[in-house]
Amino acid sequence: MTKIQERVFSGIQPTGNLHLGNYLGAIKNFVPLQDQYDCIFCVVDLHAITNWQDPVELADNIREVTAAYIASGIDPKKHIVFNQSQVVQHSELAWLFNCVARMGWLNRMTQFKEKAGKDREKASVGLFAYPSLMAADILAYRATHVPVGEDQKQHLELTRDIAQKFNNDFSSRIEALGLGEPMTVGDEQVQGYFPLTEPLIGGPAARVMSLRDGSKKMSKSDPSDLSRIVMTDDSDLIAKKIRKAKTDADALPSELDGLQGRPEAENLVSIFAALADRDKASVLQEFGGAQFGTFKPALAELAVETIGPITGEMRRLQAEPAEIDAILADGADRARAIAEPILADVKEIIGFIGARR
Ligand code: TRP
Repeated sequence: MTKIQERVFSGIQPTGNLHLGNYLGAIKNFVPLQDQYDCIFCVVDLHAITNWQDPVELADNIREVTAAYIASGIDPKKHIVFNQSQVVQHSELAWLFNCVARMGWLNRMTQFKEKAGKDREKASVGLFAYPSLMAADILAYRATHVPVGEDQKQHLELTRDIAQKFNNDFSSRIEALGLGEPMTVGDEQVQGYFPLTEPLIGGPAARVMSLRDGSKKMSKSDPSDLSRIVMTDDSDLIAKKIRKAKTDADALPSELDGLQGRPEAENLVSIFAALADRDKASVLQEFGGAQFGTFKPALAELAVETIGPITGEMRRLQAEPAEIDAILADGADRARAIAEPILADVKEIIGFIGARR
């Protein structure tokens, strides 16, 4: 029996204002995975509508995330780039997983609590069920590895719980149909249909903070445009936002310890490190003792050099929506070709009639 093929899946929500935090925390880490794995990068538009989205803006935002993937160096010919709503298997498997996941599991999700806020009664049912759709995204391709930020770890654990409960609940049926694959659970060798997907957490700047307040995450909804570098800013704007970034009055320390209690300084150093593919310690070795009057221009130059070509290419692509739509349609066809037989297996396992017609 063959082992389940290694495959990477990840997704980004098209909710607009894609910024440096999204790039450094996600997309930049996806790029090198292309050499090691077969990858699927999704624009998760079904997830976006768990909160209200203006229809005209939603379409633009789907193209924006697609352009960001491609401008950052994701190859849509070698790998797969598509938007979730074009592949019906995501919704279909999400329903099946809604019947596997338990209310108690979803009730524990911290992201739901944060996003629903005080008035949970007014949150959409979709926002509550969000993690089972995310599990469906991943498992519709039986993906084995998912690059995500810290904030998505809990959702990935839930994905494993769903996979494991499905494998257990249907173990004899899976075996009878010859659909089991060998896998290790703890120290045990078992047979299952769905892999227990591993997170790939990484990247030096998994958390990019606001340029105006080092205690807040860089966010698409911050009222100040100066708080974030958005992925469509041109070189002048990138440089200006870094020049205007909030700092304190002291010189940079030469050791990591010296960044404690200085969130703005720490954030700029961490952005520098991420853009330069270095660690913070080595950046401080170089700039320890320097004033922000020296460090900021160096950071601005680096940002313009590394991000500038990406935002330029994004603007070019976004001016050619037909080109983007063709990439998404082709990606969706290839995604469907993988997900269709998996959904047919799952329906057969559950006991539905006509799954394999
Ligand atoms: N929930 C993820 C986020 O907000 C986006 C997402 C949806 C995702 N489906 C996914 C990420 C599947 C990884 C794999 O960042």
